[in-house]
Amino acid sequence: MLYAGLFFSFLLTLLALLPLRFSTVGMRIFVVSGLFLSGFTIYFGAILPPVILHFFLLFVALEIAKKRPRLYPILILGVAVGAYGFTTLYGLGDQLEMARLRKEYPYESMEDRLPSPPAERGPHELSPDGEARFFDQEILLSNSSQKRIQMLENLHEEKVERFINGPGFGISRMRYATPSRKGLELEPVELWQQPSPTPLTGSSLEAEPWTRRPVDDDLFKLHGAGVLDFVNPRGFGYFKDRQHVAGFQSHLMRKMPLTDTRSVDSIDLVGLLLHEKPVAYVSDELPRMDKLRQAPTRPLNDFETAGLAKLRKAEDLIVESSSTKMRMLGSIRSTKQCLECHGGQRGDLLGAFSYTLK
Ligand code: HEC
Repeated sequence: MLYAGLFFSFLLTLLALLPLRFSTVGMRIFVVSGLFLSGFTIYFGAILPPVILHFFLLFVALEIAKKRPRLYPILILGVAVGAYGFTTLYGLGDQLEMARLRKEYPYESMEDRLPSPPAERGPHELSPDGEARFFDQEILLSNSSQKRIQMLENLHEEKVERFINGPGFGISRMRYATPSRKGLELEPVELWQQPSPTPLTGSSLEAEPWTRRPVDDDLFKLHGAGVLDFVNPRGFGYFKDRQHVAGFQSHLMRKMPLTDTRSVDSIDLVGLLLHEKPVAYVSDELPRMDKLRQAPTRPLNDFETAGLAKLRKAEDLIVESSSTKMRMLGSIRSTKQCLECHGGQRGDLLGAFSYTLK
């Protein structure tokens, strides 16, 4: 872009010689061709600020030179230095900001945070209904954060080219997601307490007689919304390889999922990846991995153990009710967006949510 800019500026400088010889006509030719050249830079996909600035300054210089022709050579030189000096300084400021952002969103490795996948996480085949819901979820996931990912990639992978292509020298209209603080920042996370969190040792609910019940759409929706919120797709960041992920924010649930008819008392994450045996994390807050990594865990209760075996056989939601409560175990499976970090195959069971509902 810089070279293209210099080329256009050179043409403009030549054209600016015309008004000296053929005053009014020359000026007209200069203005028309200057506008044409500036327009051309925009047409071919980039706005070149130094060229446009240079054109404008040349115009002013010509107006001054009409009255003081002797100043002409100095003015021509001055405006070129001015236009390029200004955009370079502007570009340098931009480079400093990029360096700061690179420090704030560095590459991190997933290797020590996530073990490589065990051989068996089944099932990979989902039931037809399950596949339909799963597919919807994949679509929602893939729509969520492309711009931020592109920004993070540009931030880390286009250092040299960026200087030449940077806003100072050329703003490409189509392809470029110029990294910006605002575009990279994620919304602040509020603490969200669970209404009645599961105690660390034996819940009184376990003694009640429970019966299995059919799953209705409302419950699927509630669980689907919870999973989508928890995986936090805007926080996935740019994945270059497992050692280099930029801008990742751990999975976290931002708000309690609910529907018109149902509300939740507690949600525990059942983790299958970070411990030798499946565990349920115990926390007063909604599940968020940055906290849960240090949180206490409890062994699964009988409902969860039996439910997990069913989830491994392609069921997605197990619901039981007692006289006063409902409990539910829902699968968290790998969609195609999870595979980069988590490995394995689409459909793999990565975890589950264990709910109690009113
Ligand atoms: C950019 C990397 C990345 C992507 C993409 C990703 N995860 Fe994760 N996931 C992690 C990391 C890292 C952890 C471990 C916790 C931590 O360090 O934040 C984790 C932990 C988890 C856990 C908890 C496991 C346990 O045993 O505690 C679940 C469940 C999970 N991920 C599900 C998913 C699902 C479902 C998707 C896709 C929709 C997904 N993840 C996409 C990086 C990722």
